[in-house]
Amino acid sequence: MEEKIPLIGEQFPEMKVATTHGDRNLPGDYKGKWLILFSHPGDFTPVCTTEFIAFQKRYPEFRKLNTELLGLSVDQVHSHIKWMDWIRDNMGVEIEFPIIADTGAVSRRLGFIHGDASKTVRAVFFVDPKGTVRAILYYPAELGRNFDEILRMIRAFQVADENKVAMPADWPNNDIFGDDVIVPPASTVEMAKQRLADKSITCKDWWMCHKKL
Ligand code: BEZ
Repeated sequence: MEEKIPLIGEQFPEMKVATTHGDRNLPGDYKGKWLILFSHPGDFTPVCTTEFIAFQKRYPEFRKLNTELLGLSVDQVHSHIKWMDWIRDNMGVEIEFPIIADTGAVSRRLGFIHGDASKTVRAVFFVDPKGTVRAILYYPAELGRNFDEILRMIRAFQVADENKVAMPADWPNNDIFGDDVIVPPASTVEMAKQRLADKSITCKDWWMCHKKL
């Protein structure tokens, strides 16, 4: 029986993958780091090329956030290498992160192939330092991803985890709360009363409180 795809809050399944930088064991080789695992429909395609360049240009920012990048498509290592060479020679960008050469097995296990398509969609798995899947994004072939949003999500996860808070829409630029974060709703009557008396937080009501960090 086919195993179900990993969902938010579940452990990323253990697997060995072949990449342009040698084999990797997932998620173990990335323990202690955040991992962005992303699929693209195929090598030598224009939107995917712009995405690889965008990821590479932001790679130093991802690394500052203790985050590694790992690409994937159902193409052979030789194809990935030739495509990376083309990007270097024609676009002047050296892609430094590894790309998985998938036979289709990894994509099927992770749910990267939708419907009866033969190619992977543009999926993004956010895996935390303990190997837990924290978010999954899917984009279709005709839409390149928004890399500011991917970076924003990593920053938001790290601030949320460190401070046990949640993030409002468009954080850190929410149109009502600015860069304030959301204090999780009170879970007891006593906590609700404390919330309203707590001068370090601002509440619209006992269940809607926010604060500056
Ligand atoms: C592209 O990356 O340009 C692309 C890939 C698959 C289908 C359509 C566009």
